[in-house]
Amino acid sequence: MSLPKSDLSKQADGRTTMQLGPVLPKTAEVRGSHLFIGGVDMVELAAEQGTALYVFDEADLRDRMERYREAFCERYPNSGVLYASKAFLNKEVLRIAADEGMFLDVSGGGELACAQAVGFPMERVFVHGNNKTEAELREAISAGVGRIVLDTRIELGRVSRIAGELGVTQKVLMRITPGVEADTHEYIKTGCEDSKFGFTMLDDFAFKCVGDVLAAPNVDLVGFHCHIGSQIFALHSFAEAVQVMVKFAARVRDTYGLVIEDLDMGGGLGIAYLADDEPSSIEEFAQCTSDAVMQACLECGLAMPRLLVEPGRSLVANAGVTLYTVGVMKTLPNIRKYVGIDGGMSDNIRTALYHASYEAVIANKADEPRTEIVTLCGKHCESGDAVVLDGSIQRPDMGDIVCVFATGAYCYTMSSSYNGQPRPAIVFVRDGEARVVTRRETYADLMVRDL
Ligand code: LLP
Repeated sequence: MSLPKSDLSKQADGRTTMQLGPVLPKTAEVRGSHLFIGGVDMVELAAEQGTALYVFDEADLRDRMERYREAFCERYPNSGVLYASKAFLNKEVLRIAADEGMFLDVSGGGELACAQAVGFPMERVFVHGNNKTEAELREAISAGVGRIVLDTRIELGRVSRIAGELGVTQKVLMRITPGVEADTHEYIKTGCEDSKFGFTMLDDFAFKCVGDVLAAPNVDLVGFHCHIGSQIFALHSFAEAVQVMVKFAARVRDTYGLVIEDLDMGGGLGIAYLADDEPSSIEEFAQCTSDAVMQACLECGLAMPRLLVEPGRSLVANAGVTLYTVGVMKTLPNIRKYVGIDGGMSDNIRTALYHASYEAVIANKADEPRTEIVTLCGKHCESGDAVVLDGSIQRPDMGDIVCVFATGAYCYTMSSSYNGQPRPAIVFVRDGEARVVTRRETYADLMVRDL
């Protein structure tokens, strides 16, 4: 249960905001009784576009991309930041990522197709996936992607053959499972030994496979990748993973004579979902990983590779919010108050799936304190369908516009049309302007593939 914290505070730049700290998008402010983001009144926007509605603060998005690039560049000049597009994917965010000099992590043919559709520079695209299909590999190699991240020895054979058929040499990384336990939700841990992802270090398997990759025709092994998990607060997990990876690379150099060009440390930096969350900053993350790589390379006498990271959530989560309209309410004495909103697990499955927590406010009462504890339940035919469980909010009435914060990552990309619910539109706001970048799904869209 989050605290009833929403008293207003004056910011140094003159804006008045709710005391929700790092949860809020950069330009959030309260004018009169209304919540504004990007200079746009969320209450008016909801009236114009309907709800449920995903809204993104473009200044916030661009700011985080810039901060990531600069934070790494300043501390580790030979570095690159890949946007992990699984966190939030549409054409506009990819255009912005390209414009901001990001590299791109795609995890399959669909994400790659989106990147191609906006002309994302293919040499900056890295292709992930634990079971990329033959077709996806062919699409990626013929598109000229910068790197394919090999996940298995079986895949090595496929990449080698397809690259041969297409008459090219494909640069590859090997995804290694470094055996580091990140302190996060079970479902989003990926670096520990028992994982479906990557080459395991158990029985020295990954190390032996390096020889196979080096011997395979039409592939050029240029480095290693790992990803230890997501929503990680404790930076030491990243430093530990760096240690393991650099030692591995030094052993590879000693045995096989390969000096790696790339060390890709994956994504995973945590963000604030609740006002009291204290995640590490982008700059602290950059400092920790850069220091760890420099230190480990020094210890192992390894030439410093290019350092890559793949943030998803920490680039987009706090830039995005979801607006809903209150339709029904029901109070169960001594149990809880349900506030029914016009969305739910179809636009945000994270609460049902991970028991995720969110902060919410009523956008048309943003200047009032959040004195009520309610459950924001969705409109789906499931008891577990809620977006906020026992969270604080202003006193609700029918027709109020609820704004749920930090929904920019893994909500739209994990959305569904369960119960025939059309997916919300996506609006980007900036400098007082709102533009629809993905239109709302229609009933016709729901049936468009049915024959
Ligand atoms: N790189 C790889 C190889 C990944 O698998 C992921 C996320 C990332 C980068 C980006 O991680 P991030 O910076 O966003 O933590 N659906 C879950 C999160 C799953 C993460 C999957 N992989 C959630 O809603 O919390």
